[in-house]
Amino acid sequence: MKLIVEKDYQGLSKRAADIIREEMNRKPDLVLGLATGSTPVGMYKELIRFHKEEGLDFSKVTTFNLDEYVGIDKGNPNSYHYYMKDVFFDHINIKPENTYIPDGNAPDLEKHCKEYDRLIEEKGGIDVQVLGIGENGHIAFNEPDDELNVGTSIVKLTQSTIEVNSRFFDSIEDVPKFAITMGIGSIMKARKILLLANGIRKSNVIKELLKGDKISTRLPASILLLHPDLTVIVDEEAYNG
Ligand code: GLP
Repeated sequence: MKLIVEKDYQGLSKRAADIIREEMNRKPDLVLGLATGSTPVGMYKELIRFHKEEGLDFSKVTTFNLDEYVGIDKGNPNSYHYYMKDVFFDHINIKPENTYIPDGNAPDLEKHCKEYDRLIEEKGGIDVQVLGIGENGHIAFNEPDDELNVGTSIVKLTQSTIEVNSRFFDSIEDVPKFAITMGIGSIMKARKILLLANGIRKSNVIKELLKGDKISTRLPASILLLHPDLTVIVDEEAYNG
């Protein structure tokens, strides 16, 4: 594991965007795994700036998002479909047909999950996967449990995640109880992983992860310690608490 500690959120965002730009320069048809949540917003802003100011070209890039709520409309501002367009895709020259996000309204969700993993394989696998981390150690929506899913699956959100994510919804009752998420295996197959964490809220889970001595399904992010190319980028608040 490579650890990068940046002074603040701006530094972390810039560093993550720099790494993605480097990878895109190396491979213009990069397959990029993307995350939602508040953490990567600054990184998306930087990438948009690179596109606008330096012509960073997304026309050959393919993206796969990690997760989506089940039963939420794509036009709902809390859906990850909406987020991706609003925060990133509408501001760069990516082709909409090259952007994939699990469909939480698919008629056959089980089948859709299998197809999602197959599609990732068909596109050559994910080159760089960006991840945030939940306060409880979840990655994507792989929640702490006795066992974790290998492939893309439907999962029940924990009460703590529902509470944490309720800040984006009008009320806690509006937070969906289920989500589709890439599984731990789908994530681990990515060639390179960037895990981002900022702010004091993440300091406990980052401290636990950086001990680096144990993996546990109770701390899903700890499985990433087995990945051969993991870069963890944190700011000083998440690092020092
Ligand atoms: C959410 C998402 C994750 C995200 C995490 C952290 O529930 N499903 O993909 O990484 O929680 O979110 P944030 O970046 O807002 O702290």
